[in-house]
Amino acid sequence: MRIAVFSARPYDRHSLDQANKAAAAGQRVQFLYNEATLDSRTAALADGCDGVCVFVNDRLDAPVLQTLHELGVSAIVLRCAGFNNVDLATAQRLGFFVARVPAYSPEAVAEHTLALVMTLNRHTHRAYNRVREGNFMLNGLLGRTLHGKTVGIVGTGKIGLATARIFKGMGCRLLGHDPYPSPAFQAIGEDVELDELLARSDIVSLHCPLTAQTEHLINDVSLSRMKPGAMLVNTSRGGLVDTGAVIRALKSRHLGHVAIDVYEQESELFFQDRSGEIIDDDVFQRLMTFPNVLVTGHQGFFTAEALEEIAQTTLANLGHFTAGTPCPNCVT
Ligand code: NAI
Repeated sequence: MRIAVFSARPYDRHSLDQANKAAAAGQRVQFLYNEATLDSRTAALADGCDGVCVFVNDRLDAPVLQTLHELGVSAIVLRCAGFNNVDLATAQRLGFFVARVPAYSPEAVAEHTLALVMTLNRHTHRAYNRVREGNFMLNGLLGRTLHGKTVGIVGTGKIGLATARIFKGMGCRLLGHDPYPSPAFQAIGEDVELDELLARSDIVSLHCPLTAQTEHLINDVSLSRMKPGAMLVNTSRGGLVDTGAVIRALKSRHLGHVAIDVYEQESELFFQDRSGEIIDDDVFQRLMTFPNVLVTGHQGFFTAEALEEIAQTTLANLGHFTAGTPCPNCVT
């Protein structure tokens, strides 16, 4: 079986090759690696392949799916949990097998969420630079003690729960909001409506998937309901947040801090070295001017353990596709 891997970086090659080597002979596949992101211009690279292996910013909209279908591709394996980048209705109509990696390491994303909160709160990123330049002044580095603060978790699924458990260990009070409340979360926190969560939380952390219902869940209105000076954290999907509204809330000083690992227009920027170029995205550039904003480039998942799990599950998903057996990770 030949699989065209898109958005392939050296670490993807390494983990997929390792998993392939460790697999039983009958389960091995031939991976053809492409650095390019999958879109209508690059879909032809899958010519002669049975499947494509894709990541968060590969675009599997109706025209791309149609091209893949015409090329004879019939399997789509996602190296991620979210599948908002796949037009599922079209994929279903064209008979694609679509499978994802539902949980590779919820703790990896939860720990990165905490890393963002702790860095932004105690300004360790600024302190690091200052100390290296021999500046030991503390002005501007004042943080808040997190013990006793209220953290609102929007989406108390696997990552939300893992995040909540870490905050609980730090002595924080927990509020959660989820249309499907989780008993495991209820054992450590209180389930409330979204408006109440926004009004009572010192930190609001987003962990729900991006769907038609959750797109721009954080907008001018929801931001105005947040506590003045609160911190907004998004390690889920960029589209949950209206970035223009966040900039307005930062400029008005209503929003205290923003930490994001995902950004609505990230497909133009993230996972690429753009350091020598002029970045045209004025919204992103404005966001980067605030001293109380911290951005990382979608690295929440990026641990050795998670990469290993992603590669192994991807091979297992392909095994189900080949054998025609029911795949627990199918989304079509
Ligand atoms: P999950 O499916 O275990 O949990 C998501 C939860 O969100 C579910 O309990 C669901 O009921 C809830 N939810 C759905 N609609 C909601 C709404 N309107 N309001 C509040 N809650 C709602 O998924 P998991 O594994 O916890 O992942 C969450 C998200 O994290 C993924 O959808 C993905 O977008 C993102 N993610 C980000 C990564 C990164 O590297 N930054 C890596 C992996 C996932």
